[in-house]
Amino acid sequence: MNSNIKIETFIGENVEPYIPEIAKLRIEVFRDWPYLYDGDLENEKKYLKKFSNCSESVFVVAFDGKKVIGIASGLPLWAESDIFLKPFLDNGIDVNDYFYCSESLLKKNYRRQGIGHMFFDKREAHAKSYGKYSHLCFCAVQRDKNDPRKPEDHYQLDSFWAKRGFEKQPNLVVNSSWKEIGASEKSVQSLAYWIKKIL
Ligand SMILES: CC(C)(COP(=O)(O)OP(=O)(O)OC[C@H]1O[C@@H](n2cnc3c(N)ncnc32)[C@H](O)[C@@H]1OP(=O)(O)O)[C@@H](O)C(=O)NCCC(=O)NCCS
Repeated sequence: MNSNIKIETFIGENVEPYIPEIAKLRIEVFRDWPYLYDGDLENEKKYLKKFSNCSESVFVVAFDGKKVIGIASGLPLWAESDIFLKPFLDNGIDVNDYFYCSESLLKKNYRRQGIGHMFFDKREAHAKSYGKYSHLCFCAVQRDKNDPRKPEDHYQLDSFWAKRGFEKQPNLVVNSSWKEIGASEKSVQSLAYWIKKIL
């Protein structure tokens, strides 16, 4: 890894200065396959407020010099919106046991240098430090493998997540709506949970 790259962890209200940065990264990174998400800055900043309002939230920020090149976020699952809690509640699972890894966002030209590993390791260390979260979880969008919009060179991250110790949960599915690039209306997208036991 380039020696100018530094990774720092911010907790609770200390994430606040990085909300505009993560909003920009979400719009930039989630435009690509498999998300195709057409985001706008003002809605992003509102959506991201939950992180600075929660004392146990975390941002793992990657810097190249002073420039932010990636952010991974997390917060207790109970602090997420209702649609993310629904599959757990429907299946009688206690949401208080789960720490949610919200997004892992890295600019393209900094990928495959090990920063993604640190994003997951540092969020896991943060969740473990409370001694009350038995599991980490995150959601990944589910796409048809034959979708013609899928780029030829797309690297499917399933093996990356499996190597980090996560297991896909086909029965824990979130239906979330967003406007895809080029669409005029929002459409429903399906996201599956991945879970890792940490305690
Ligand atoms: C997820 C993400 C942060 C991972 O970051 P990263 O710094 O590239 O990850 P690392 O370099 O630590 O590890 C990448 C691993 O995947 C493999 N990998 C990644 N891209 C690859 C590719 N195009 N071809 C082959 N292998 C690839 C690497 O070999 C490595 O394998 P390992 O776990 O055996 O070491 C980054 O890919 C990203 O920002 N993706 C877009 C956003 C996204 O989809 N986020 C996840 C959902 S929120």
